Amino acid sequence: MYFRSLTFFSITLLFLACKPDAPAKAVPEYETIQYKGEAADEADRLIVKQFGEFKMQLSNRLMAAMKEGGPEKAIEVCQVVSPEIEKSLSGEAQVLRVSQKPRNPEHRASEVESMVLDLWAARLKEGKPIGAVVVPTETGRVVMAPIQISGEMCLSCHGIGEQIKPETAAALKKAYPSDEATGYSLNDLRGAFVARFIKK
Ligand code: HEC
Repeated sequence: MYFRSLTFFSITLLFLACKPDAPAKAVPEYETIQYKGEAADEADRLIVKQFGEFKMQLSNRLMAAMKEGGPEKAIEVCQVVSPEIEKSLSGEAQVLRVSQKPRNPEHRASEVESMVLDLWAARLKEGKPIGAVVVPTETGRVVMAPIQISGEMCLSCHGIGEQIKPETAAALKKAYPSDEATGYSLNDLRGAFVARFIKK
């Protein structure tokens, strides 16, 4: 309960303070916000490493569940496991996955995050590489790494039309009545890992 109200508080804070001019500059140059790897400060390096762990844990659990009981079982697992990992990784920052077309309504990208997703999408269109970024905001900073539709498996729950089996579609509808996260193709940008740091 304590944790929940704390998270809620920090999200509200971020939104309130971010309203007028969300990012420090309207739209930063991509080059200025790129994550600088070894040169980045320690907290950012740790977070980017944790994004990798998040991805591993989630895909291991997802694959095991798919094998065991197909997409319907995997949806159940995703519904429990994804928020569980988010919680376990959230310390100094709030860590989560976001999207402009979320399945879980709590995963909607903020204004700043949405701006970065647009920047990445534009670069992909031009065939340019994308990677982690650190965006200063008026309230702190946001560290983000892109998530793309990396394999056929993703399409069984995020794909187009018949790629999603009727049983899967029904299970998704039941668990996520306001689901927006379908209609994707291989390599599409699906969303991002995000760590929201609030200045103390
Ligand atoms: C078995 C169905 C299933 C498969 C397969 C699947 N997902 Fe998802 N995905 C979900 C569910 C369910 C959620 C919502 C989880 C939650 O409630 O936190 C989700 C959420 C997400 C989110 C967070 C944003 C949001 O919409 O809530 C991203 C990003 C994502 N999936 C990407 C992927 C990628 C990339 C793959 C392939 C590697 C993949 N998914 C495979 C079911 C699936």
